[in-house]
Amino acid sequence: MHSKLSIDAMMLLFACIVLLLPEYSYADTRNYQFDIRLQNVTRLCHTKSMLTVNGQFPGPPIFARDGDSVIVKVVNHAANNVSIHWHGIRQLQTAWADGPAYITQCPIQTNQSYVYKFNIVGQRGTLLWHAHISWLRATIHGPIIILPKLGVPYPFSQPYQEIPILLGEWFNADTEAVISQALQTGAGPNISDAYTINGFPGPLYNCSKDTFKLKVKPGTTYLLRMINVALNDELFFSIANHTLTVVEVDANYVKPFTTDIILITPGQTANVLLTTKPNVPNTSFLMAASPYNTGQGAFDNTTTAGILEYQAASYNNNNNTLPLLRPTLPGLNDTSFVANFTRKLRSLASVQYPANVPQTVDKKFYFTVGLGTSPCPKNQTCQGPNGTKFAASVNNVSFVLPTTAILQAYFFKQSKGVYTTDFPDNPPFPFNYTGTPPNNTFVDNSTKVEVLPFNTAVEIVLQDTSIQGVESHPLHLHGYNFFIVGQGFGNYNPYTDPAKFNLVDPVERNTAGVPSGGWVAIRFRADNPGEYVL
Ligand SMILES: *[C@@H]1O[C@H](CO)[C@@H](O)[C@H](O)[C@H]1NC(C)=O
Ligand SMILES: *[C@@H]1O[C@H](CO)[C@@H](O)[C@H](O)[C@H]1NC(C)=O
Ligand SMILES: *[C@@H]1O[C@H](CO)[C@@H](O)[C@H](O)[C@H]1NC(C)=O
Ligand SMILES: *[C@@H]1O[C@H](CO)[C@@H](O)[C@H](O)[C@H]1NC(C)=O
Ligand SMILES: *[C@@H]1O[C@H](CO)[C@@H](O)[C@H](O)[C@H]1NC(C)=O
Ligand SMILES: *[C@@H]1O[C@H](CO)[C@@H](O)[C@H](O)[C@H]1NC(C)=O
Ligand SMILES: *[C@@H]1O[C@H](CO)[C@@H](O)[C@H](O)[C@H]1NC(C)=O
Ligand SMILES: *[C@@H]1O[C@H](CO)[C@@H](O)[C@H](O)[C@H]1NC(C)=O
Ligand SMILES: *[C@@H]1O[C@H](CO)[C@@H](O)[C@H](O)[C@H]1NC(C)=O
Ligand SMILES: *[C@@H]1O[C@H](CO)[C@@H](O)[C@H](O)[C@H]1NC(C)=O
Ligand SMILES: *[C@@H]1O[C@H](CO)[C@@H](O)[C@H](O)[C@H]1NC(C)=O
Ligand SMILES: *[C@@H]1O[C@H](CO)[C@@H](O)[C@H](O)[C@H]1NC(C)=O
Repeated sequence: MHSKLSIDAMMLLFACIVLLLPEYSYADTRNYQFDIRLQNVTRLCHTKSMLTVNGQFPGPPIFARDGDSVIVKVVNHAANNVSIHWHGIRQLQTAWADGPAYITQCPIQTNQSYVYKFNIVGQRGTLLWHAHISWLRATIHGPIIILPKLGVPYPFSQPYQEIPILLGEWFNADTEAVISQALQTGAGPNISDAYTINGFPGPLYNCSKDTFKLKVKPGTTYLLRMINVALNDELFFSIANHTLTVVEVDANYVKPFTTDIILITPGQTANVLLTTKPNVPNTSFLMAASPYNTGQGAFDNTTTAGILEYQAASYNNNNNTLPLLRPTLPGLNDTSFVANFTRKLRSLASVQYPANVPQTVDKKFYFTVGLGTSPCPKNQTCQGPNGTKFAASVNNVSFVLPTTAILQAYFFKQSKGVYTTDFPDNPPFPFNYTGTPPNNTFVDNSTKVEVLPFNTAVEIVLQDTSIQGVESHPLHLHGYNFFIVGQGFGNYNPYTDPAKFNLVDPVERNTAGVPSGGWVAIRFRADNPGEYVL
């Protein structure tokens, strides 16, 4: 039994630190302090002491405008080492502020603090921040809301209100114990007990008193800033009897399209417009999220819900026994829905918001993504396939986190023993990636990076494998947005597939789902010096 081992498969991208970018003047400075400490939180009749920022779950939002600079002082009052990642922020000229522990920095230790400083350059929309060490992001996360520069309108009508909606996962157990047990036994990690909307499981669970309620006026347009902060699960989301208009994903405008249901993978965001019914209906509506899961292991197959409530003032009295309509969500493994949905996402590609897709490519990579195995240590019994341990890998490399931060080792020219620069550009052993797996599925444990000269136009084809069963794998690239120029099922064909690439208006994002049993091709220009994780 297994599910995604999301932290194990990583590789790194370097762009040589050679050029400085033009100076910007920053409109405003936003100052925040994040105090990390234990807090008792009760959900599903279960109280647990868990790590939070400023005692809040989900954590506090960061607000900024395009052009602002942001300063966050993180004070660690917890026994754990912590670092924070600003997911989707490009970190131009501040690569060291990106946050993954042992990649760009050593973690912030108990009773220590660290000040993150970065600028928002040419970005607006919804992003997220989260802890980036072990599984602490399970409870340490929150929204980043970036407004356009003052006086710059949205390329859609101004909504009446903007509401962050975070879809998350709740574990009754301590998530650090869950991941450490999984790493010890080699089995997939135990699954969550509920999904949440803005931290609340909602009425479809036993013993859940907490429900997110969105009170709305009739005939009014709201902007829902949707974020998937779940540890591992891709989620469908829908509101009964209402359609949604998708206008932005991962802080990039898209050609608006309407849909009843959206899919968001962990680390992705989607800004959607919701226009309420013109008259007050004699009913309330559930908004709900349930997983999209294609793996073979156990997974949390429950549904979280919140309530869309037309303002009580419109009624004669506050009638809490209104009938509740439920949305219809796709089947838990509805890959056809997901493929159709992702095909609808297109960049705005206007004069004001162009899609600068690299038309030619300097460097091509073909990366297999999937689960392999590691041998069981002699002394132990393991619970992965055939007594081994599960190990996620890219091109058969299972990333080993070093004990010295890689950026530090690079800066002080002390990379020896920390990392090597021979990450494979192609799969080391070609096979039918979506067919019969090879007999030897053992991975190579190592800390390898790719080095890219500044301004390289890069194409990466990410290929799912069937080694432990095909499965959809969301992947996030730090420090960059990329264009999703193509995707398909089966094995990528380098001779016939590129002809079908969209180089005109492909969606631009920072997190993509590698289709279950398929591939996705992304392009970007390596114009952001620094060191970044994929
Ligand atoms: C959490 O609850 C436990 C048990 O009631 C209590 O001992 C502890 O002080 C509480 N912790 C916090 C941070 O409130
Ligand atoms: C915290 O980080 C420091 C520095 O990397 C390391 O020496 C220490 O072992 C870590 N502590 C824990 C509890 O992981
Ligand atoms: C909700 O949608 C269902 C199915 O389309 C329809 O039968 C019902 O009348 C709708 N109710 C409201 C209040 O919009
Ligand atoms: C959800 O998973 C449980 C086992 O964990 C299973 O008993 C149940 O049938 C599943 N429900 C759905 C709707 O798939
Ligand atoms: C609440 O609304 C329901 C459905 O419209 C109705 O049947 C019920 O009588 C109402 N209850 C109160 C206390 O007004
Ligand atoms: C989807 O799930 C259903 C019910 O568990 C199963 O019968 C079906 O084979 C699955 N489809 C795929 C493509 O995995
Ligand atoms: C996806 O699109 C195809 C082709 O338009 C259609 O046949 C199929 O029914 C769609 N699947 C879903 C789940 O909407
Ligand atoms: C890889 O690392 C894992 C976890 O540290 C270990 O259990 C496994 O034996 C290693 N595999 C190889 C081939 O070295
Ligand atoms: C083997 O396991 C025993 C008991 O858990 C432990 O004391 C011993 O250190 C282990 N030996 C090795 C080589 O890991
Ligand atoms: C399981 O592992 C054993 C011992 O390493 C090996 O002999 C056997 O071939 C393996 N079976 C499969 C199905 O991989
Ligand atoms: C790869 O495996 C798939 C699934 O078994 C099969 O349909 C396909 O024909 C195979 N491709 C090649 C080139 O053998
Ligand atoms: C796996 O091993 C079996 C038995 O040795 C062999 O017949 C088969 O060809 C091997 N498969 C692959 C993909 O190497």
